[in-house]
Amino acid sequence: MLSSSRLAVSNPVVIERPGQGHPLPFVVQAEPGSADIPLEELLAWLTETTPQREEQLHRSGAILLRGFRAVKDAETFAEVVQRMAPQILDYAGGTTPRSAVSGKIVTSTDAPAHMVIGQHQEMSYLAPSAEFPDPTPDKVMFFCQIAPGGGGQTPITDMRTVYKKLPPELVERFVQKGGLIFQRRLPSEKKYGFEVTWPTAFGTDDRKQMEKIAAQRGWKVAWTGQGALEVTHPPSPVVKTHRVTGETIWFNQAHLLHKSVAPWRSAWLGPSLTQKLRARLMQPFIQDRFFYHSTHADGSEISLQDLETIRRVVEQETVMFDWQAGDVILIDNKLVAHGRRPYEPPRKVLAALLADTPRKSMLPDAGKN
Ligand SMILES: [Fe+2]
Repeated sequence: MLSSSRLAVSNPVVIERPGQGHPLPFVVQAEPGSADIPLEELLAWLTETTPQREEQLHRSGAILLRGFRAVKDAETFAEVVQRMAPQILDYAGGTTPRSAVSGKIVTSTDAPAHMVIGQHQEMSYLAPSAEFPDPTPDKVMFFCQIAPGGGGQTPITDMRTVYKKLPPELVERFVQKGGLIFQRRLPSEKKYGFEVTWPTAFGTDDRKQMEKIAAQRGWKVAWTGQGALEVTHPPSPVVKTHRVTGETIWFNQAHLLHKSVAPWRSAWLGPSLTQKLRARLMQPFIQDRFFYHSTHADGSEISLQDLETIRRVVEQETVMFDWQAGDVILIDNKLVAHGRRPYEPPRKVLAALLADTPRKSMLPDAGKN
């Protein structure tokens, strides 16, 4: 448990999860006497309690810090982030649109307010390679600077439990077929405001440089007629063993990055029937801009029934809490998936990606000033 001789935190608030041996998230709530402690004191406490926090994080999967008023903006959040892991990562090659806020602190997502972002472990579709043996962040952090006007939760899901609750024959089928191949298209420029373009995602607008980055990661690339980049990833595993706990985790985004949930089949223009119909009609114009698809590694299509089963189990294991301004959540990105619910503005949630062991940046110009 987290404790400190100098800082009083109240008993953890636990989101009840009947049958589970650990709370999700583990909540550390400042007591009235410690809510106004200076940032330096909070940071010293975070440094001092690192071993206990890591142990709790691995047990629960996520820790929510609540009520510490010294954390109030991107700069103070960045100070907290730096105490949580040795390296802050660039957001390179991701699937969600983000904006840089301060240093490596970014907006959680620039996707429109009405859209649901499904549960995912950050970048779990990236296959390990010799150059990047572990390309996915170890931790993800979010900071709520402005609480949503309504909704806007960041639901979290224990993916160890998802692994245990999936039908064994489904898991076996996915493993037997050698993992998953992820394919996506990225346009060269924004048209609707929230696409992920390849120049933004990879920090270069040079096609040759882009091809070099792809080759380093073992990706196949093709250029479509509309200037979009089509990327096919090498097979990535469907399950992962946690580096510290040794637990097996369901670790992929097949349920999310699949053409069955493409924007033209969903509420990307809005939730009404007319908006959904309009989205359908727009497929030919947007399929180079928002195309994501996963297949089994042998090239066969994933059955829609399996995808529905995965989505159902993920949903059953998902818990939600309402954001309060000042909340900071630390998530073990291997153990726990996150998403985003639609919201009423305003909402300002910042994010950071972290690595527990030093690693090379995936951006080509990283290290340059
Ligand atoms: Fe995310």
